[in-house]
Amino acid sequence: MKRLFAITLVLFGLFLGTAQAEGLYPDVPKAVGNPHPEGSAFMRINHMKLMRHDRDDTMHNGNRDVKYSIKECVACHAVKGPQGLPISVKEEGHFCKNCHEFAAVKIDCFQCHNSKPTEEFTALLMRDPAPTADEISAYLKELRE
Ligand code: HEC
Ligand code: HEC
Ligand code: HEC
Repeated sequence: MKRLFAITLVLFGLFLGTAQAEGLYPDVPKAVGNPHPEGSAFMRINHMKLMRHDRDDTMHNGNRDVKYSIKECVACHAVKGPQGLPISVKEEGHFCKNCHEFAAVKIDCFQCHNSKPTEEFTALLMRDPAPTADEISAYLKELRE
């Protein structure tokens, strides 16, 4: 029951204003790059459907034409640790982990998929001046090709 409440709270971002102030809503770290055209509320509710394995397509036929790559999620949603480098899902504060712990959701995706961005993207993230949203989009597009 408590878990259901947490999930509802997260998915609909219901009491966002007050809940956040009272620490009832998980701390969602800020992303880089352009926001989702579908909006954050849509992403909260649907992200798990967008990334589903189409086993026949992706794994067996090596279909690279995937709209939502998990590599891209962990790039824009990278969270910097004490050393200023992106942290893995094993560390506190990781974008996916923070929210899932709050809602008591467990995923096994990161047993196989990297929970940190690639070295190239990390270098771009660390650059001074910081990359623009367009540069990030261009990089992610390359990643997909
Ligand atoms: C047993 C290992 C394994 C697990 C566990 C796993 N995947 Fe994958 N996944 C793969 C492999 C292998 C590929 C194809 C190679 C690639 O593109 O990286 C793939 C490809 C994908 C893709 C398309 C390519 C990309 O870069 O995103 C998505 C999306 C994806 N997985 C999402 C998930 C999600 C979400 C979970 C957890 C619910 C998950 N995977 C769990 C092995 C795994
Ligand atoms: C091009 C960069 C980019 C990519 C790629 C990206 N996101 Fe986002 N995402 C954002 C931005 C920007 C926001 C708006 C909130 C913010 O500024 O932190 C956001 C918001 C979200 C939210 C809502 C957070 C909240 O406020 O509660 C979720 C959930 C989310 N993204 C999941 C994902 C997942 C899962 C993937 C991969 C399938 C992904 N995102 C890929 C940039 C990105
Ligand atoms: C704003 C909060 C939030 C963020 C951020 C978030 N998730 Fe989720 N995620 C949820 C909630 C809540 C559920 C459970 C929904 C349900 O059970 O109906 C969920 C479920 C999932 C599931 C399905 C699990 C299952 O057992 O069916 C996957 C896969 C997933 N998330 C992947 C990710 C990945 C990968 C990231 C980071 C890139 C991420 N999520 C970030 C809130 C979030």
